[in-house]
Amino acid sequence: MATAAQTPRFTHPADRGTCPFAPPPAYEQAQREEPISRISLWDGSTTWLLTRHQDIKAVLADPRFSSDATHPGFPFLSAGARQLAAGQPTFIRMDDPEHARLRRMLTGEFMIKKVEALRPEIQRIADELIDKMTADGRTHADLVRDFALPLPSLVICLLLGVPYQDHDFFQECSRVLLRRESPADEVAAAQARLVDYLIRLTETKRTHPDDGILSRLVERGELNTEEIGAMGRLLLVAGHETTANMTALSVLALLRNPDQLDHLRRHPEAVPGAVEELLRYLTIIQSGLTRVATEDLDVAGTTIRAGEGVICMVSTANRDESEFPGGDALDLTRDARRHLAFGFGVHQCLGQPLARLELQIALDTVLRRLPELRLAVPFEEIPFRGDMLIYGVHELPLAW
Ligand code: HEM
Repeated sequence: MATAAQTPRFTHPADRGTCPFAPPPAYEQAQREEPISRISLWDGSTTWLLTRHQDIKAVLADPRFSSDATHPGFPFLSAGARQLAAGQPTFIRMDDPEHARLRRMLTGEFMIKKVEALRPEIQRIADELIDKMTADGRTHADLVRDFALPLPSLVICLLLGVPYQDHDFFQECSRVLLRRESPADEVAAAQARLVDYLIRLTETKRTHPDDGILSRLVERGELNTEEIGAMGRLLLVAGHETTANMTALSVLALLRNPDQLDHLRRHPEAVPGAVEELLRYLTIIQSGLTRVATEDLDVAGTTIRAGEGVICMVSTANRDESEFPGGDALDLTRDARRHLAFGFGVHQCLGQPLARLELQIALDTVLRRLPELRLAVPFEEIPFRGDMLIYGVHELPLAW
């Protein structure tokens, strides 16, 4: 039986291996040798590392593993993450019943039916971005800057009622919040600027209501302006960085797997299934999901004591051989729906219907409109986001 006194295997995050699409080898090795093990964190503290699909599902489904970052022993992935926890909390870092109360105010906004109604608008945005990329006979672009980032940014701005012309500002704030090495004071400043911005915006909705989520939250009258600002920050950051990185990384993974790319071009109806397999294979939340035990708990024979932190590596869970045989390969014909890329349990991603729709439209549009797509630089020159809490690429220079 494992105990908390064990020597940590390595410091999280471990060095990336040679395959930029795979979790670093140290995590895959841990899954094979010691699926529930001890690791150390940036601040010298130690925590539990979970790597198997079944164990992670069990922990994420168990409310006795808390998401509350103010709970003693909560494992922080960076100084910035600890700093964020000191500010106004959002419901991703709360437990039920408070978490459920706040989440319920938004569930209607992200229901499949409601999101599906956005399809024509999202398709129009995707087409316009490709029109711009290819205007005047252009044959090169950075897919991140010109398509993958603006698409979900424009959509979340539209949904929230945030002016897209402010995107340089909120994207820069997001970058600071999500950079693993950002010093705590920079994170505090970026967070304060973003929240101030959203509070001011929310105030304007009181006098000039519109059809966005911020306005609807004001109309409900259940939250004060600060609480609405915090919710807006969560949605704004979660709503564009994640989908943007999944889009760019998916296109790159397809270009590196030409047989799969070819399959998708010949079977565009397979795009929804392909998106699930890409979510599984790429699992961009590579730094893991964090929880803390609120009482002594048993996970597959290991005792996790009250106040001990847990990091759930959904990236290795999504390649667990017992759940996804041959999971190290990208196979767009696989039924990948049991993946944990959106988490599991009460905190499972609220925006997943929107993320799925955006990814389906993005992939379909890029493949259809740019049939000659290829990398514009050698693969080795692509800058991967090993420095960020959400994985992906900083740039993706493409030609067609
Ligand atoms: C490919 C895109 C996305 C991925 C991979 C992703 C992943 C995740 C994961 C893993 C969680 C669970 C966190 C945890 O359990 O601690 C989560 C939660 C969340 N996501 Fe996403 N997400 C994506 C897109 C979006 C979008 C587009 C939105 C909003 C518009 C969004 C909003 C949220 C919110 C609000 C939560 C907190 C839910 C709660 O605590 O109840 N996400 N996401």
